[in-house]
Amino acid sequence: MLQLRIENAEVELGDVVGQLAKYTEHLSAIRKSKSFVEPESSINLSLDNGTLERVRSLVAQKVTDRLRYSIVVGIGGSNLGTKAVYDAALGYSDLLNLERFPRLLFAETTDPEWLSQLVLLVGTLNSPDELLVTLISKSGGTTETIANFEILMQAMRKKFGSVEDRVVAITDEGSKLWEVATTKKIECVAIPAQVGGRYSVLSAVGLLPLHSIGMDIDGLLHGADKMLTQCLEGGDNVALTSAAVLFLQQKGGRHINDNFFFHPELESLGKWYRQLMGESVGKEKSLTGETVHAGITPTVSLGSTDLHSVGQLYLGGPKDKITTFIASSSVNPVAIPEERYFPELVPMVSGKSAADVMEAIFEGVKVAYRKAELPFMEVILDAIDETAVGAYMQFKMLEMMYLGQLLNVNSFDQPNVEAYKVETKRLLEV
Ligand code: PA5
Repeated sequence: MLQLRIENAEVELGDVVGQLAKYTEHLSAIRKSKSFVEPESSINLSLDNGTLERVRSLVAQKVTDRLRYSIVVGIGGSNLGTKAVYDAALGYSDLLNLERFPRLLFAETTDPEWLSQLVLLVGTLNSPDELLVTLISKSGGTTETIANFEILMQAMRKKFGSVEDRVVAITDEGSKLWEVATTKKIECVAIPAQVGGRYSVLSAVGLLPLHSIGMDIDGLLHGADKMLTQCLEGGDNVALTSAAVLFLQQKGGRHINDNFFFHPELESLGKWYRQLMGESVGKEKSLTGETVHAGITPTVSLGSTDLHSVGQLYLGGPKDKITTFIASSSVNPVAIPEERYFPELVPMVSGKSAADVMEAIFEGVKVAYRKAELPFMEVILDAIDETAVGAYMQFKMLEMMYLGQLLNVNSFDQPNVEAYKVETKRLLEV
């Protein structure tokens, strides 16, 4: 399980932790109920055997060894989590593993260039079972998602004729999408009504596309489940601790939470977290209706790449950030040779592993942060795989629930996202 350490930010956590004791009891009760009634119900997704069975049976039905591309059509909470898990374990290295199939692709924003590439790709396929499209929209009516799907569907129909069995729709039961997809005999899988997009990665939203390309969804769910047990059943509640630190640092003027990942394949995990934090606690109104304009601004940095770009700003600029470093304790043996080509240059790396170099950079950064008296947390994953990512995601989803309580905002709605969606549709109508 992951470890959490705190530096320069241990101020008076006790009171805040005490304030949240009742909420922990509330979360434990929801978990015991295994139900999907409360806004926090996403914590029961790792127990939802019905959805797991449905996902397994659909994948068994639709995926053969001929599958080459599984395309997720969705945006925001409907694709960021899936991309985070995929990139962590496979997607980043797929840049080089050109022969590894099936691959997961994403159609998220309505980008004409990328969409035309996808259309060309469909044209190169030999049979419909080389492709599976998962159309994901909780609301069933997001402009980008539906526009992208129409373009892809047209390409698929043009090439293969009837392709409804190569599509699965994941949406709220009873949404307009559910209704029209069912009429066209497209299989639909439900997202529990109370589970919002950014908390839905452990529902069919993440499980179906990940399982379709053979990723370890049992590991993903297991990691999440272990984290819930640890946090809600008397173990080290890292989610509560981290929320308390973020809250107190924000009160002390550090309104930016920089999430500094020391593995580039975790960049998408950072982007998933950026949505989770941005939409959950960035709120105009408090729970009691006052105008508060609350929020902490999440940023994503990559070690060591961004030390060579924004490191100067972070160490020397305004002290408005609380940093969360994320690294892993797993060690890859790839090494710099003893017999060097340029032995004169940076001689101290001879014979060291790449992991040793990265570790030295990470330690160096922490020393520099300590000297600059910058507050930070350190999250150490024990691997970069589905289980570790599942644990991390559950840790962060719980953290966001606690943070909503502390900031007195609703962690589960997104009224201002809805506002932009309404305006987009209005503009397209003219
Ligand atoms: O978290 C959210 O609710 C949003 O970011 C949505 O996930 C995003 O707007 C996509 O919405 P939908 O899944 O309804 O297409």
